[in-house]
Amino acid sequence: MQAHGRGDWAEAGRGYRGWLEREPDDPDALHLLGVLEAQQGQLEVAARLIERAIEVKPDESMFHNNLGNVRVEQGRLPDAEPHYLRAVQLEPQRVDAANNLGVVLSRIGRSDQATAILQQVVKMAPGFADARLNLVQHCFRTGDYGNAIQHCLDGLVTDPGSNPMRRLLGAAYSALGMDTQATELYQRWLADEPDNPVARHHLQACLGADIPERASDGYVSTVFDQFAASFDSKLAKLEYRAPEHIAAWVDAQAGAVAAEDGAARWRVLDLGCGTGLVGPLVRRHARELVGVDLSAGMLQKAAARQVYDALHQGELVAFLEAQSEPAELLVCADTLCYFGVLDDFAAAARRALVPGGHLVATVEAHPEPDDAEPPYRLHIHGRYSHASGYVQSALAATGFETVAIKAVPLRNEAGRPVQGWLVAARAADAVLPTS
Ligand SMILES: C[S@@+](CC[C@H](N)C(=O)[O-])C[C@H]1O[C@@H](n2cnc3c(N)ncnc32)[C@H](O)[C@@H]1O
Repeated sequence: MQAHGRGDWAEAGRGYRGWLEREPDDPDALHLLGVLEAQQGQLEVAARLIERAIEVKPDESMFHNNLGNVRVEQGRLPDAEPHYLRAVQLEPQRVDAANNLGVVLSRIGRSDQATAILQQVVKMAPGFADARLNLVQHCFRTGDYGNAIQHCLDGLVTDPGSNPMRRLLGAAYSALGMDTQATELYQRWLADEPDNPVARHHLQACLGADIPERASDGYVSTVFDQFAASFDSKLAKLEYRAPEHIAAWVDAQAGAVAAEDGAARWRVLDLGCGTGLVGPLVRRHARELVGVDLSAGMLQKAAARQVYDALHQGELVAFLEAQSEPAELLVCADTLCYFGVLDDFAAAARRALVPGGHLVATVEAHPEPDDAEPPYRLHIHGRYSHASGYVQSALAATGFETVAIKAVPLRNEAGRPVQGWLVAARAADAVLPTS
């Protein structure tokens, strides 16, 4: 246990296994070895060990709570619920297990029960920040932004400096179009923390002044590091489709190329690869598949998919500029919504491609008519939208010709589809000189 506590997993594993050879039914050793296996990603082994611990000692609430955690990690949410419930029945004061139960119920859509349990946990332990955040997240899931705001305001009384709570409050204001309240929130936040990139970005968006040419590196990495763990499951619920639209175009293009030369073996760069949702969809066309992203948290998830030949942490324009070997294909799903001005991106993309190579990307479409000015906009939710004409002219100016532009739904938000543009462009034969 000492080795486990200091993070020496190999030594801890030897210790637990050695002990279990002598005492095969020691429930604590079975449970702790299960926890250790789970920490190392061996979820099935972990579940079996903790189940055995429970057979020997059925009334230990911690065992049930941790088996619930393993089931959640495995994505088996309905199987987690009875274990969290049992943990709470065995030890009603266990607010951690009750909190876990509330989250699972929320995620499997049993909203009323989730509300009751999470509210109870917050009442029992007002300083339990995670539980209050979970209650707010639950309100977001059910579209109840009014209550989300109230819970955030309550949370900020208990913990006035909680940045996750400030972010959720800002998002709830933005969902309800409460721009004045959002502006005041970000002004207060920035007064407390003048360098906070999230507060700065959203305040600029609210005021519509000093709009940055793209979201700062600090903003992107802070937001996506926090989002990485839940990104895939949240976006699946929102029917996120940008990777599919890109892959469908790539498949069609690969078919066309294969018909001509019999092979489609490209160097592919996935720009803003995130958790790697695009990777598996384009892998079969890639002789080499490389992803780049600013967020270490997102990249960790992408690495776990084991489909990329290499992953780089960094800013994507700088990454493109540093390429010494040109690529045949650049894919960029739902990432240019963190860019306003596209000139540097387009120039770097063109230079990173072989003549005749392709860029295929999505942008969020302006909610107004496509010719409305300005041609790109930063919204208070923190993302940019673009007019299709602007995207095409930025690409044309650097030596691309647009080969397809298509209106596509990217995902749902507040129950409505977010419209986007799928843009595919071909690098002209010569790189245009920069002025
Ligand atoms: C909405 S996610 C999309 C991820 C992935 N392409 C997908 O479709 O699932 C946007 C990703 O772009 C990354 N990103 C945004 N701006 C970036 C930049 N300038 N350089 C590198 N990565 C960036 C973020 O960290 C995030 O992982």
